[in-house]
Amino acid sequence: MREFRHAVIGCGRVASNHVDGFGAVPGWSVAVACDREAHADTFAKTHGIPEWTRDHTTVLADPTVTSVSVTVDHAQHGELVRQALDAGKHVLVEKPLCLDEPEAHTLTALAAERGLVLSVVAQHRYDPLVLAVRDWVAEGLLGDLLYVSARLQARRPEDYYADSYWRGTRAGEGGSALINQGYHCLDTVRWICGDLTVHAATAGTRVLTGVMETEDTLGALLSAGPVSVTLNVTVASSVDWRTRVELVGSLGSVVFDLDHPGTLHHRSGPGELLRRADQERARSLAEEPPGIAYYGVSHRRQIADFCRSVTDGTPMLSAPEDAVGTLRTINDLYDAAGAR
Ligand SMILES: NC(=O)c1ccc[n+]([C@@H]2O[C@H](COP(=O)([O-])OP(=O)(O)OC[C@H]3O[C@@H](n4cnc5c(N)ncnc54)[C@H](O)[C@@H]3O)[C@@H](O)[C@H]2O)c1
Repeated sequence: MREFRHAVIGCGRVASNHVDGFGAVPGWSVAVACDREAHADTFAKTHGIPEWTRDHTTVLADPTVTSVSVTVDHAQHGELVRQALDAGKHVLVEKPLCLDEPEAHTLTALAAERGLVLSVVAQHRYDPLVLAVRDWVAEGLLGDLLYVSARLQARRPEDYYADSYWRGTRAGEGGSALINQGYHCLDTVRWICGDLTVHAATAGTRVLTGVMETEDTLGALLSAGPVSVTLNVTVASSVDWRTRVELVGSLGSVVFDLDHPGTLHHRSGPGELLRRADQERARSLAEEPPGIAYYGVSHRRQIADFCRSVTDGTPMLSAPEDAVGTLRTINDLYDAAGAR
């Protein structure tokens, strides 16, 4: 079997999810850890990665490296993705693809032109429960959707921002509660309901005023065609992490969360919906998450899909253009809130 050597550029909080995911795919492994700071060495040793470097250009110049994960601050995503594609590497980049929509289009076009796989991590798109709800909506089991509500309440302590070179800054993060933590709720609604139009939004720094220049809280009204969508996200609450997505239709409704292992809290509607929902409830996602618990385990699923696409050339479940759409909605929300 051919061996594929993957490299992770950025060895911070999320990087272990990438090492775990590539390590689980036969023939693949993370062969190089790269971080511009000295902890590249420790990260490599802890995870059994044979090589490490502080310079990403040496990774990109290595012809034996097939693909890279870009797991650094948001502001550098665009440039590192471009350099990696230019070097002929397939790229898995953490969300968001970059901060600027025109640049996002350029990157997706560059990947297509070069015949390289470009994928933006949005692991909850791969959660079995999210995929099931998406099917129920598409098959009309909820009838006509009337409204959708998506919420994240999270808590980030002051040092999460104060000790970071990029979080809580417009230049480094491009926003905060929405583009970082709230990304998943918003992206999941887009994945289920389709493209979103922004009608109104409000954003502010309510609690974490001393440590961040960007928002700790955002509320918005959007629509997906005729369906009204409300979105609320905060990182200033007293709860570490809790998401909630509610879809109400003319025939049925569901309420679920994305928190590991992803729970279906309520379902009502036609018999077929109840049957499918109860089947889904019985399915277990009780795998041990490799990193922080609420990141879940679906990095594994997206990474397996990425590796399959690199190997056999067939498209992934979710296209990079989907991530451009989510970026557009995020920037529209910031514009509507006067926060950009
Ligand atoms: N999908 C998820 O659930 C999830 C969870 C957490 C973070 N993320 C995303 O992952 C990305 C990274 O977040 P994090 O929390 O791991 O950040 P982090 O600050 O913990 O880690 C970033 C690392 O990148 C390194 N770095 C910066 N520039 C570099 C460069 N040019 N070359 C090599 N290394 C460089 C830094 O030294 C740091 O160690 C962000 O895009 C974030 O939104 C996603």
